[in-house]
Formats: sequence, C-alpha cells, structure tokens
Amino acid sequence: MSKDIIAPDTDLHFVKDNHNPDDWQSATTSIASSVYKGLMENGRRYQTLRDKGSHVPSDEQMFETYEASHFLAFIIDSHKENPLFQAPVVKPKHILDIGTGKGSWAVDVADLFPGATVRGVDLFPPPVTWIPPNCLFEIDDILQSWTWRDPFDLIHLRLLDAAFTPEETDHLYKQCYDHLQPGGWIEQLEMSTFIECDDDSVPADNVLFTWGPRLKMAAHKAGRSFEIMQTFQESIERAGFVDIHTKDYKWPIGPWPRDKTLKEVGGVNHQHWLIGMEGYGMWLLTKYGDPVPWTKEEVQVYVAQMRKELSKPRIHVYQRARRIWARKPVDEEWVKVESSP
Ligand SMILES: C[S@@+](CC[C@H](N)C(=O)[O-])C[C@H]1O[C@@H](n2cnc3c(N)ncnc32)[C@H](O)[C@@H]1O
Repeated sequence: MSKDIIAPDTDLHFVKDNHNPDDWQSATTSIASSVYKGLMENGRRYQTLRDKGSHVPSDEQMFETYEASHFLAFIIDSHKENPLFQAPVVKPKHILDIGTGKGSWAVDVADLFPGATVRGVDLFPPPVTWIPPNCLFEIDDILQSWTWRDPFDLIHLRLLDAAFTPEETDHLYKQCYDHLQPGGWIEQLEMSTFIECDDDSVPADNVLFTWGPRLKMAAHKAGRSFEIMQTFQESIERAGFVDIHTKDYKWPIGPWPRDKTLKEVGGVNHQHWLIGMEGYGMWLLTKYGDPVPWTKEEVQVYVAQMRKELSKPRIHVYQRARRIWARKPVDEEWVKVESSP
C-alpha cells in the first residue's frame, strides 16, 4: 500500500511510503496534481486513484454534505460524554478512519485524544487547511494490503454504502480485524437511503419513496453492497469480532419533531439531503439507472422533484441509521470462538 500523507502544518505536502509521522519533513513531495484535479463527469469531480469508480463525487458540494452528516450524527448523541464514538476505548494510541471524506471525524477525534495518532484514509485528499498535529490524512485505496506497523486501538468507518462489492467488504473487515490490537474496537455508522413515514403526512405514491428503491436497483446492477445497514452486523460477526453492540436511530428529515434535539437534527438532515442527493445519485443513475442509464439532466430533474417534496412543511419523514461497535477478542477468547461448534 503506497501512501500519500498530508502531515500537519506542512502547506499540505505529502509523504510517500512513510509511516512515521515524525519523518515527514525528510521526504515531502507534492501530491500528483492529477489526483487533486480528479475527473470531471456530469458537472461533478470524482477521484482518479482507483480504477473502479467511486460512486460519490469528491468535490465541495459532497464535502459540505459530509459536514452536515457529521454534524447531525454528533448532535443526536450530544448527550453522551463522547458523541464521536461509543466503543469503550481508553487512552487510544492509534486510530484509523476509513473513507474519511472531508476528514471532520478524524480531526475531532484527534482533538479529543491528543495522545493518539489519528489517520484518515481516502481516495481523494480532504480539503483541509489546518489539522491537529496528531492527525494524518493518507491518500490511498483501503482495499490494497495495509502496511501500517502499529496495530490500531480503534478503526472507524462511516457511510460506506455502495462503496464496495460484497467480496471487497469481507476483505476490508478482515484487514480491520488483522490490524487491530487484541481487544481493539471496530465501529461503523451507516444510514439507510430509504425514506420512511409513520403517519399519513405523505401519500404512498409520493416520489420520495422511489429514491431508496431506485438507488438500490442501480447499486445492485453495479455489483455494490447496498443498504449495508441491514448486513454489516453479520459481516462484522463473520470477520471474528465479538461483544457486538448495536444502536438504531431514526434521523428525521426536516425540523418536524417536537423534541428539541431531534428538531435540530431534522433541520441539519434536511440540508444534508438537499445538498447531497445529486452527488449520491448521479454516478449510480447515469451508469446503472433503470431501465437504461439516465442522462445527467434526467437525474437533475429527479433530484429537483425530490427537493421540492422534501421541502414541503407538513411532512414527517425520516431515514434509519445504525451504529455498531464490536471488539477483536483477546487471545484466549479467540481460541474459544475458533473452537466453538
Ligand atoms: C459517503 S463518503 C463518507 C465520508 C466520511 N466517512 C463521512 O462519514 O463523512 C465515502 C467515502 O469513502 C471513500 N472511499 C470509497 N472507496 C474507498 C477506498 N477504496 N479507499 C479509500 N476510501 C474510499 C470515498 O472517496 C468517500 O470519501
């Protein structure tokens, strides 16, 4: 795995094949401008590092979308001492954030644990101007073999629906397992793409209910795992993790709930959908749309219809989300898991 690393306070220089954060000054190189430039398609910018396309753009609009989802995930757990993750990790030294996107989670966790080194990996450089000294961003394909030497105390994944095939997903969890300390934790938060409503504020034939099924069909044609919210517990268990904890959420879309926190979450999530839908849908629908690939304009018209419906004031819609945290067994437990019938 050959990495480009964004080291703190370096004017965004990058380090090649260097896993010691203290050594970055010896080998800084500018990251290839082609990686920064990306590939423009249908008015959006995509990563160029991995041949198999990423279904989400890596551009300002998408980074704004990730900022909104980061914020809403934070607010909904803001009553907790640590709203960033639930795994009971004490004094972590090495933390990894897979598919870090804009890098907000990695930066916040690095601030919270100044004694830890927090690495965020993505196919595209996050748009950061300053990062805490204990945070590193690495530009790489996480499906390649990992070459980090220090085992991690915590590996975090978030919103990776449709990023991988089922085989790639299994391979990824195995890599996580192999690179965690015995007793180390994996934690993942995923959201459903399906919009739901528990009352009659939205008629059953509303366009809002077509978004999830349409994206699901396109992702299926693309061979990607979709609605992994339904399957990631099983995948994590299959990889050998134990002590599995699950927390389910309903994320309101729009500020309709009475509860103050949920109202705030709903307001942010409404923005999240308005800004994010085009990016989440464009690649899948223009390549794998049903019955034939859609044009960019067709996607834009569809997104405009969705935005209009989502902005109606009296609708009570939401999406589900699920957080799972699980532990790599310590040695004796591992023997038990291996030998159990
Ligand atoms: C929907 S975004 C989520 C970003 C971030 N985890 C968050 O919650 O804000 C998925 C991210 O995974 C990254 N990604 C997809 N495939 C990847 C791979 N093979 N290696 C590294 N990153 C990948 C994408 O570039 C994208 O930034």
